[in-house]
Amino acid sequence: MELSREQRILLEGGQGPSLGLFMRWLVEWGEAMGARRLVPVQNVHLSGISPPAIGREKPSAQAYEQALSEAELYCSSPVRCAAATCANADVALGIPAGDQGAEAARLAEIRDRQLDLARKAGIALSWTCTPFLVGNLPSRGEVCAWTESSAIVFINSILGARTTRHGTESAVAAAATGYVPEFGALLEEGRRGELLVDVHAPLRTPADWGALGYFAGEKAGLRNPVFRGPGRLGLGAAKQLSSAVATTGGVTMFHLVGVTPEAQTLQQALGGQDPGRLELYAFGNEELKETYSRLRELDSGPIDYVMLGCPHLSLQEVIQVTRALAGRKVSPGVRLELWTPHALRAEAQRLGFLRELELSGALLLADSCPAVCSPVMNGVRVLTDSFKQAHYLRAAIGARVAVDATEACVEAAVRGSWQP
Ligand code: F3S
Repeated sequence: MELSREQRILLEGGQGPSLGLFMRWLVEWGEAMGARRLVPVQNVHLSGISPPAIGREKPSAQAYEQALSEAELYCSSPVRCAAATCANADVALGIPAGDQGAEAARLAEIRDRQLDLARKAGIALSWTCTPFLVGNLPSRGEVCAWTESSAIVFINSILGARTTRHGTESAVAAAATGYVPEFGALLEEGRRGELLVDVHAPLRTPADWGALGYFAGEKAGLRNPVFRGPGRLGLGAAKQLSSAVATTGGVTMFHLVGVTPEAQTLQQALGGQDPGRLELYAFGNEELKETYSRLRELDSGPIDYVMLGCPHLSLQEVIQVTRALAGRKVSPGVRLELWTPHALRAEAQRLGFLRELELSGALLLADSCPAVCSPVMNGVRVLTDSFKQAHYLRAAIGARVAVDATEACVEAAVRGSWQP
């Protein structure tokens, strides 16, 4: 890989051993991916400054200590890019309320230390998978280094920003050094559409868009699908499409003709390729129905959990659910969870929506991911409006899942049972 003089000095440890290590990570990764150079990065969204997975299996004390030493390494150099946010969970979630024991005290200490490290490094702790809702909104063409598969697809495909798929180490290294290896979706040729999906089914709800993504991700694998025909979509639908396509596939971006900034026409989406030479799939009513049934393990009847907010909800979505509840009580046997960034939870509180939700018996949660934190166990009956969430809860925990529209999920939470 060609390196500038400054990059070579960084690599050789001339500005400290951790920057040297981070440069080595980037150079080795870039070389493996065929990158020819490192380019400046303007915007990073990273994960990793968080506790180990918490919730159903209590992590060992050793795991917490390891999370702290990783955070110490990751925050050892101040960030050099214009914006950096952090995903994943707040370690405080590992502390049982009211717990005064030695373990809780140590967790609180670790949390304060993590906060301090991140603050000193210049990282904004958004603790959300939708940082674009709370201040980290990259613009078209901005070179980014983002983790979180759903957000990566969203910023590439809806905003026209540019990022490859990052993991914790590469994003941390990008934030600290200010560089990323240039390959894949950072280059024109890596952004061209590679297969076509003709959408005939009417997509009426964000969950329907999630079904399209779930279907297309599997067909696409690592390639960029081009959607022709479904029309325009709102923010909630864009989040569902982006998260679902990155659940069944390793998709970095899609083109939605007429919506994706650089794909206002099919020709633009394909970068001049002949559409007749590409793989073509149809997504009609039959495929829509079949995609829902692939994740349906519940028949009509009682449910235990309803989960909304994968990816995290916008304030408008929180308000929409509050309105759908209309002051009614959640059925006593059901736990209704809504997940949102903590900044929007605070806003919902200020506006009185949190109180309304709580009076209904719903939970408005923040700072983590339901797949990590919710007390869902094997065999629990879960209804959600997210294909991604249903996929993970079934695969990782063995929950019995089904996906339905947001309003149908709310109705089921009130009734205590679901009618497909
Ligand atoms: Fe966000 Fe967790 Fe879903 S990180 S996208 S809520 S699986």
